[in-house]
Amino acid sequence: MTVPAVDFRTAIGQFATGVTIVTTLDGDRPVGITVNAFASVSLEPALVMIALDHRRYIVPAIEAVGRYAVNVLTEDQQWLSDCFAGANVTPDRAAFCGASWHPGQTGLPLLGGAIASIECRVAERIPLGDHLLFVGAVEAVTVQEPDGPPLLYHRRRYLRIERASTALVTGKPEGRPDTANGDPARPYPEPSDASPGTEPADAGSRPGRTPD
Ligand SMILES: Cc1cc2nc3c(=O)[nH]c(=O)nc-3n(C[C@H](O)[C@H](O)[C@H](O)COP(=O)(O)O)c2cc1C
Repeated sequence: MTVPAVDFRTAIGQFATGVTIVTTLDGDRPVGITVNAFASVSLEPALVMIALDHRRYIVPAIEAVGRYAVNVLTEDQQWLSDCFAGANVTPDRAAFCGASWHPGQTGLPLLGGAIASIECRVAERIPLGDHLLFVGAVEAVTVQEPDGPPLLYHRRRYLRIERASTALVTGKPEGRPDTANGDPARPYPEPSDASPGTEPADAGSRPGRTPD
């Protein structure tokens, strides 16, 4: 049974992702492309993967160098996502979007202001359908902005995380003392302790409450 492409895109678009710029070198020139098909694959050894349409202009450069870096964008860097996706802007993608960059530990171009950059050696190149899967062995990581708000992508639109002043955690938070409330018998807040607007994600599914 085949699924119509439009249905597939609609279903996949429900899954929210971050946005990255995958960079590499074309000779001594930095090049990049916008990618959200990025995932971690293995912890030990550290492996990640990106999926690129085999027609993407950057594919020959990644194949020639055998390396790529994944730069995770902050919400202030939406313009980089547009530019590296080929938007008609000046400076354009051919001019590396005028982005600030510096060589990483392996010499790959890393974007200034990115939340994190992950430098990889191509461990496997797997053609699948109309895409190529590049599995990357992670050689270096840089976290420039550990608290930087990420740019998100959802239903083919950009999204930003709305930050609340407090947020209730109903599971047992790691690294938190068992007597956080000063009451050893009641170490974690009950749902009724929550102030308005701080309900956990599953609040609508609790018994006795109808979803909004
Ligand atoms: C938010 C966003 C995410 C994207 N993710 C991917 C991706 O994971 N893989 C891919 O092949 N193209 C992806 N693209 C598309 C390419 O960035 C864009 O179409 C491409 O750069 C067009 O240029 P080219 O086809 O000349 O290489 C994405 C575009 C945007 C805006």
